Amino acid sequence: MSGLSIRKLYKAYGAVTAVKGVDLEIGEGELVVLLGPSGCGKTTTLRCIAGLEDITDGSISIGDRVVSEKGRSLPPEQREIGMVFQSYAIWPHMTVAENVAFGLKLKNLPKPEIESRVRSALELVGLTGYSSRHVSQLSGGQQQRVALARAMALEPRILLFDEPLSNLDAKLREKMRFELRQIQQRLGITSVYVTHDQQEAMVIADRIVLMRNGVIEQMGAPEDLYHRPKTLFAAEFVGLANIYSGEARGGEVRIANGPVLKSSGAASGAVDIVFRPEQVRVSSEQPADATNALRATVKESYFLGNIEDLILTVEGIDIRTQLSPAEHRASGSSLWISIPPEAIILLPRGGQMEEAA
Ligand SMILES: Nc1ncnc2c1ncn2[C@@H]1O[C@H](COP(=O)(O)OP(=O)(O)OP(=O)(O)O)[C@@H](O)[C@H]1O
Ligand SMILES: [Mg+2]
Repeated sequence: MSGLSIRKLYKAYGAVTAVKGVDLEIGEGELVVLLGPSGCGKTTTLRCIAGLEDITDGSISIGDRVVSEKGRSLPPEQREIGMVFQSYAIWPHMTVAENVAFGLKLKNLPKPEIESRVRSALELVGLTGYSSRHVSQLSGGQQQRVALARAMALEPRILLFDEPLSNLDAKLREKMRFELRQIQQRLGITSVYVTHDQQEAMVIADRIVLMRNGVIEQMGAPEDLYHRPKTLFAAEFVGLANIYSGEARGGEVRIANGPVLKSSGAASGAVDIVFRPEQVRVSSEQPADATNALRATVKESYFLGNIEDLILTVEGIDIRTQLSPAEHRASGSSLWISIPPEAIILLPRGGQMEEAA
């Protein structure tokens, strides 16, 4: 097993530069998610790691071996990587075991070795007992597990995933996130996982690398990105957020055409103001602590089963909050909210807004 090191990676396709100077160190056994909107360069980065693309500049190393640099590229089959893609790319006319054994046969491994590797790979993904089934008789989730078993049977040093769950229905997709994470942890295999789904990224990642227009916007643990976004783009892309522009001065911030709030940030001048819906506290009575306590009216209220999503009108601005449905508030009702100063994130104005992917 090995870590992965990407230094100043550039990849141009003619006039389009898809990756523009990505620097990334991935530790042994770490699972890093490349997250970002469509076209930001996630797949391109992954394909460069896999050796499916020659790189334009920079270098990629697996362990202490340089596998890609300008003008020199080790072919994919010599990189000891496993790949799992959105289209499972398994052979419909073959059985589960034949699919998993496919790459091992190409490597001319002895038959008993192939059998034992196929058995343990299928066990790992929970498909013991399915070996002689044709893959066309499997569900989508099972087919994706066959693809995973096939990648793992090769005992790769690095696993690469590109949107592996996006062909599955929502429920299965949600379940498979946990499964994939558990399998990866059990194996402790260094992995790079591409998705544009921020929830999937949060569940699966040790570390999220948020990309935008071919560069890394911000990276960190999921909690870091969520609680400490450094740019408006990061604040918007990861999780839900209330976002306003305003002016900060002396521990206070004035939301444009809205209320003045206490904040714990030291920023001053033109800022973007961000806080998460679940940070907004709601009560029927005026809170005893008057800090950032404001009167609010429910403008819209949506029942989502596990939560109730509210849009509130507060001194001329809209604030979104999410409550337990047990605390149901009808449209038109009035209530009090308070926002803890430490929940308010202030970002220097000028972080460019990205159009939604
Ligand atoms: N073979 C290619 N030739 C020319 N341009 C390409 C090629 N592959 C990708 N690009 C361009 O490079 C940029 C990054 O593409 P990439 O596939 O890496 O994006 P992505 O982040 O994986 O997006 P998505 O979420 O839609 O899969 C895009 O502008 C894309 O059009
Ligand atoms: Mg892609």
